[in-house]
Amino acid sequence: MEIEEYYSREEWMRFKAKADQVETPSLIVSLGIIRRRFEELLTFFPYAKIYYAVKANPAKEIIELLRDLGSYFDIASIFELDKVLSLGVSPDRISFGNTIKKEKHIKYAYDKGVRLFVTDSKPDLHKVARSAPGADVFVRLIVDGSETADWPLSFKFGCHPDMAYDIIVEAKKLGLNPIGLSFHVGSQQRDIGQWDDALTKAKYLFDLLEGEEKIKLKMINLGGGFPAHYIQKTNETKEYASEISRYLHDNFGDDVPQIMLEPGRSLVGDSGILTTEVVLVARKSNSNLTRWVYIDAGKFGGLIETIDESIKYPIHVERDGKREQVVLAGPTCDSMDILYENNKYELPVNLEMGDRLYFLTTGAYTASYSSVEFNGFPPLKVHFIE
Ligand SMILES: Cc1ncc(COP(=O)(O)O)c(C=O)c1O
Repeated sequence: MEIEEYYSREEWMRFKAKADQVETPSLIVSLGIIRRRFEELLTFFPYAKIYYAVKANPAKEIIELLRDLGSYFDIASIFELDKVLSLGVSPDRISFGNTIKKEKHIKYAYDKGVRLFVTDSKPDLHKVARSAPGADVFVRLIVDGSETADWPLSFKFGCHPDMAYDIIVEAKKLGLNPIGLSFHVGSQQRDIGQWDDALTKAKYLFDLLEGEEKIKLKMINLGGGFPAHYIQKTNETKEYASEISRYLHDNFGDDVPQIMLEPGRSLVGDSGILTTEVVLVARKSNSNLTRWVYIDAGKFGGLIETIDESIKYPIHVERDGKREQVVLAGPTCDSMDILYENNKYELPVNLEMGDRLYFLTTGAYTASYSSVEFNGFPPLKVHFIE
């Protein structure tokens, strides 16, 4: 793996300069890269409102940056809500994007001024109607992009179009304002065609509701799913945008609804490098040829998306020479704390304890996932550079 495939020389030098000053494990985040990704998204999707999925990386510095760039925010809980509000984001820039929420949290958000909620079931809709009267709601559809997404979101969220129809009709009866539909085709979705399938379903519902119920929906939330740069190549975001724009026009002609995006991974994934240190290199028997490389960050220290070896981070090491396959594992006393065992990474034969391994593209879903005290290890530290 060549670092230049992922970062320019200057970007890497900036990361490295910071990494050299800090203890491992540490996540170094480049705000400049996030700014560029945000500006690219605005250029590629000029007609969309971008709601940053705060869960991807809730660091104050990132929220402030995106606030100043005019982003909107998708929050999953009142705790994210409080954080975003405390940083000066007004509630009209916030969408409560979790279909699973306590009624008292809906009320809390409503009392703070939030007026946009997702739902995917009647019981949740009723909670919203009681505790957020008159709010705008959109209904999340089930879509299945799990075969081609590296981090699928499965059937936990969304509902069948038939049920979405009923929820929208009921929302209106309950005095809510049903404005549209949402879906998430799965995170790090490699098949752009998944958006086409979802938009076809959405269009069908738009037409049915207008024809039968005189309810004219006006918004579609295309979710996240846009890619960061991991080992397995994807199309560039630009390609996603041009294809999706085409699907929108194919489906809706000149009457394209308002579009929301909820990017997490594609906005902040590339911005981070997780700097780790080799704690131990060992073998399991005198004759066993496989080296086990244990490092100071693992599944509980920010690299949870290596579950099932789903996300394959590019790993950089500053040693040349012959490489051999290894098993890579984290530092905790839990046997599931193995990062890559089936996908064998090749690391230099002369790798030594104390060497650093740099996990590229770790800006999303790392720090926020790291445990608070498992085995006594503190949460992953995050440092920022421009
Ligand atoms: C509701 C919702 N929106 C947006 C996102 C962000 O998706 P991604 O990181 O693929 O951009 C997620 C991710 O889990 C989500 O649950």
